[in-house]
Amino acid sequence: MNAKITATGAYLPEKIMTNFDLEKMVDTSDEWIKQRTGIEIRHIADKETTAELAAKAALDILKNSRLSASDIELIIIATVTPEHPLPATALFVQEKIGAYNAFGFDINAACSGFTYSLSVANAYIRSGMVKNALVIGAETLSKIVDWQDRSTCVIFGDGAAGVLLEAVDDDSVGVLDMVLHSDGRYTDLMIVPAPGSRYPCSEEVIKNRDIYIKMKGNETFKMAIRSIAGVSQEVLDRVGLNFGDVDWMVSHQANRRIIEGVAKRVGLDMNKVIITIDRHANTAAASIPLALDWAYKSGKIKEGDIVLLNSFGASLTWSAGVIRW
Ligand code: ACO
Repeated sequence: MNAKITATGAYLPEKIMTNFDLEKMVDTSDEWIKQRTGIEIRHIADKETTAELAAKAALDILKNSRLSASDIELIIIATVTPEHPLPATALFVQEKIGAYNAFGFDINAACSGFTYSLSVANAYIRSGMVKNALVIGAETLSKIVDWQDRSTCVIFGDGAAGVLLEAVDDDSVGVLDMVLHSDGRYTDLMIVPAPGSRYPCSEEVIKNRDIYIKMKGNETFKMAIRSIAGVSQEVLDRVGLNFGDVDWMVSHQANRRIIEGVAKRVGLDMNKVIITIDRHANTAAASIPLALDWAYKSGKIKEGDIVLLNSFGASLTWSAGVIRW
């Protein structure tokens, strides 16, 4: 059995924050943000929670599929901004959509969360353990961003999106293969230090602003292009394809310059590269499925296309997958 994406779905919070709004909050400019990152606007979840965003994306996926909530067997939510430390956000999503025949859990692999989750769902389906899975990336990064830190607050956004993965008796379609990597020597490149077992909740961690994202952006940037290009080559080699066979590259949307750098390094024309960072910003685990959903619904990705997914995230995780749509 292979696992095929049979539907996509997405949800973005209504509130939009522009670069000009950010100019009023920190010492930055629309020009700097656009030139350094490619971001023009981002969606912000003012009142909504991660599970609410994810449930709305799940309902959109179901609307676009042949299945109803009671048919779903597995729910994986990729997130670094869960509803609570426990229980898993997937359980709140299960309750909101009424998918009571499923089991669910969360995966934290930062911006690689969606590809990591897709690989897990793929393995469950290939093993025969389940026949379908909802795989959703959902983030409310605005709630862990330090709105006083211009080097991070301008790059993140909120949103949720995902796919329905279903078993198909055809090994030429669906997820052809995936490769995942992580390197725990670089955990300091991007971290939210508290609250956790090392730094439990206290007045001290709040005073130190340790409850917010801390990122060494430039050092992360330098490692990204080489790692993404490398893992993409690795997964294409495993399935006997090359970059010339790729119809669409859907990358984690962290920085337009990173995506362009990868395309240049592997010799892929930018008209085969999906770009959504201008209007979504970096939505961590939600960014690849948001881009996939847009690319599919706008008619770019078509049945039979070879789609290369690749990601790079904290700290460090990187991965790639090849899908025949
Ligand atoms: N507005 C204006 N100036 C700024 C801003 C801002 N918002 N932020 C930083 N600057 C300044 C810096 O202070 C610095 O000034 P200086 O030269 O006087 O010291 C200058 O701009 C350059 O700063 P850099 O950090 O070198 O800028 P860079 O070109 O690297 O861009 C960015 C920063 C956008 C963060 C980039 O490094 C990046 O995209 N990094 C990768 C992020 C990433 O991929 N993270 C992992 C995935 S996210 C996840 O896992 C959830």
